[in-house]
Amino acid sequence: MDVPATLGRILDTHRDQPGALLPVLHEVQEALGFIPPETVPEIAAALNLSRAEVHGVISYYHHFRQESPGRNVIRVCCAEACQAVGGEALAEHARARLAGSELTLEPVYCLGLCACGPAVQVDETELHAAMTPVKFDALVARLELEK
Ligand code: FES
Repeated sequence: MDVPATLGRILDTHRDQPGALLPVLHEVQEALGFIPPETVPEIAAALNLSRAEVHGVISYYHHFRQESPGRNVIRVCCAEACQAVGGEALAEHARARLAGSELTLEPVYCLGLCACGPAVQVDETELHAAMTPVKFDALVARLELEK
């Protein structure tokens, strides 16, 4: 992926648009998989913002990644309904299980499966309800086998 060309195309689309920062960041992450740190100065200059402002928004939203993601991204729901049925322990288990793994773990705040949590999502396409540590390990083992 040609980062400068991709970034230039996205910035050209939004250059004179008020409040363009979030749409730009979403499009950059969608195109590149993350927001490379070297794109921040150009985004800031194009939108007439400081680098600190752009960086602050990237850091504030859990959704934005500053490093290239692993082969799969696993999101564990950390919102209230899932927390109430073991989501916190599951997230801790997931962190330990995925330490050093090629899979990326991210928190997410509600996947719409609140009645049957804890909920987990793989790559924005696959949803799992009532997740347990044992089921989580089986899911990770399957994803690792799919390499
Ligand atoms: S709170 Fe976890 S899916 Fe809604």
